[in-house]
Amino acid sequence: MRTSYKFLILTAILATCYAMMAARPTSGDESPASAKGESAPQSELDKVIDLGREIVMSTNTHPLSKPFVGNDLTCTSCHLDAGTDPAAATFLGCATAYPAWSPREERVITLEDRVLNCFMRSMNGTRPDNGSPVSVAITTYITSLSSGEKIAMNHKNPLGPNHVPPLKLDLAKADIKNGAAVYQDQCAVCHGDNGLGNEDGPPVWGPRSYNQGAGLAQVPKLASWLKVAMPLGDPSLTDQESLDLAAYINAQERPEFKLEEHLGEGKPNK
Ligand code: HEC
Ligand code: HEC
Repeated sequence: MRTSYKFLILTAILATCYAMMAARPTSGDESPASAKGESAPQSELDKVIDLGREIVMSTNTHPLSKPFVGNDLTCTSCHLDAGTDPAAATFLGCATAYPAWSPREERVITLEDRVLNCFMRSMNGTRPDNGSPVSVAITTYITSLSSGEKIAMNHKNPLGPNHVPPLKLDLAKADIKNGAAVYQDQCAVCHGDNGLGNEDGPPVWGPRSYNQGAGLAQVPKLASWLKVAMPLGDPSLTDQESLDLAAYINAQERPEFKLEEHLGEGKPNK
């Protein structure tokens, strides 16, 4: 008994030493090339960050993400400039808020879970598995945009410190007719008279747009986002116009959302 106990401890110590030795060479930051920072070769981590950015820019066509997307949108359709626009659903600083409490799921979720939720809802697709290459790449890219910032986990919502500020709106005052008029005047040129999109902008309703489970499918959230994001390059709507447009756009047809139809293999969501 006694000897085998000692033997176990010895084996455990040896195994730990071995693991530490094996792990050392992978800490690439200590390599002389990256320490000089000049002609440093791209690290494996840098490559995954770049891949994540590429996927965020071309989610509906990139071979790694395309199978999980069910519409004509990309992440950057709403997270403008690949999430680097500081106002329009920015990814800057966002990783500092996670893990965060999610009232919708009634559990603590990670940044990766949050990314995967957007696949099911905003992208009208299916949820890639946690730890899959597409999920790791996007999450790594988003995390890179919080490098050096202090972690401040969010106890209330899965939202970063720079999220879209919610407008104070009286929903009862939404004027859909005016929304339709402003749409034709300021939006149709890029999103089409029929909202189905054209070469200058993605669909804002119809079968190839975000589904009813998406954040933007809620009138107050769409209004707040429009205020800081559209018209593209010149966000200049008044609060009332944003509300009227949001009510008009979300009164149009878009795919329904039934959670069971969007879950992948992992199924951790409610
Ligand atoms: C149809 C619009 C839309 C699309 C497309 C979309 N999202 Fe989102 N996403 C949102 C909105 C709106 C929010 C809430 C952001 C806010 O309030 O600032 C959000 C929130 C997030 C958050 C949390 C942000 C935070 O501040 O904590 C992450 C992460 C995220 N989305 C990732 C993605 C990824 C990755 C994709 C592509 C696979 C994607 N989203 C596609 C609209 C969209
Ligand atoms: C100059 C062209 C242009 C104009 C004008 C414009 N948009 Fe957009 N809009 C875009 C582009 C392009 C995107 C996607 C962002 C990207 O890929 O960089 C977008 C994204 C969107 C999205 C989120 C993605 C989606 O398709 O659901 C909504 C909603 C939207 N616009 C609504 C509007 C509204 C409402 C107006 C009028 C106030 C408007 N846009 C004016 C070009 C435009």
